[in-house]
Amino acid sequence: MNDLDTLVESARTQFAAASAPHDLENAKAQFIGKSGRLTELMKGMAQLSPEEKRTRGAAINQAKQAIEAALNERRQTLQDAELEAHLKAEALDVTLPGRQRGRGGLHPVTLTMERIEGIFGSMGFDVTDGPEIETDWFSFTSLNNPPNHPARSMQDTFYIDGNGADGLPLNLRPHTSPMQVRYAHAHVRRYGKGFDPRSGRLYDGPMPDIRVIVPGRTYRVDSDATHSPMFHQCEGLWLGENVSFSDLKTIFTGFCRTFFENGDLVLRFRPSFFPFTEPSAEIDIQFPSGPLAGRWLEVAGSGQVHPNVVRHMGLDPERYIGFAFGMGPDRLTMLRYGVNDLRLFFDGDIRFLSQFE
Ligand code: DAH
Repeated sequence: MNDLDTLVESARTQFAAASAPHDLENAKAQFIGKSGRLTELMKGMAQLSPEEKRTRGAAINQAKQAIEAALNERRQTLQDAELEAHLKAEALDVTLPGRQRGRGGLHPVTLTMERIEGIFGSMGFDVTDGPEIETDWFSFTSLNNPPNHPARSMQDTFYIDGNGADGLPLNLRPHTSPMQVRYAHAHVRRYGKGFDPRSGRLYDGPMPDIRVIVPGRTYRVDSDATHSPMFHQCEGLWLGENVSFSDLKTIFTGFCRTFFENGDLVLRFRPSFFPFTEPSAEIDIQFPSGPLAGRWLEVAGSGQVHPNVVRHMGLDPERYIGFAFGMGPDRLTMLRYGVNDLRLFFDGDIRFLSQFE
């Protein structure tokens, strides 16, 4: 073995001993590179004759190539090993069961809203919603409740900075009743004498009855076990040329018995006052049996739509008559499921909510 073979051999051994890329690069510097042993050998050629230089040079070159080949081979091996280790570390166990997504469910009040919509829908009522930020006119004045009228204190609402189209502060609607007049306006625009933008024709026929419910969020300055600053209401309105208080009784009795799935439920229409109805009645229900049996439970306000409200709808109170009601879906939900604290509905506690899944 000559000195070059020994050198190549020793390079191979050292490369093989390098177990990480940076060890390998250190080993490489000993042989190739500025102060490597090959470079030393090259320098040693200075004293040789031209003939000897040629042979010696070729031999050194060969040795250099052999060392480089060994280096590259070892580099590749280390790289492969590194990749292998990486893949192993990141390996996925595809046999592990997947992470389950929790099953969602509808909120109990949403369930009630859907129930209400379904029942009134089956009785021919349209379902609509309206703005939660209202003008003073729609929230109060249009409903026969003029500024400074004491009846306004029945609804202590939230006011919003900035004024509505009527120049008065905007409010978070304290009830869904403003939609009575809003909806009637749209209905009259659609069916009244004049151009009907939807059909593109002039309309001059009989006006179909207004028959609508309006479920939605409402707001009042109120907070305890049975009152929340945000709560839900569902307004109802049926207005036509021949709608009477007895229709209200039939419709609402039918609704309550269907809603509570109890044909023996008893209703009481108790005289009351609302500015937008005359006469007005509070509607109480009584369960014939069960934990609430024998107690009168208030579920809605109602009455015959006041002529001033009909006028604000753009209709003639001598011709159009009907009834309205407003009920609390939160309370209906509490009664249906036996929940005694309203705040549970709005806490978002999954332990409570998942019971209604
Ligand atoms: N808006 C009333 C309230 O929030 C409820 C109500 C009573 C609505 C009588 C009506 C009605 O439509 O006729 O207390």
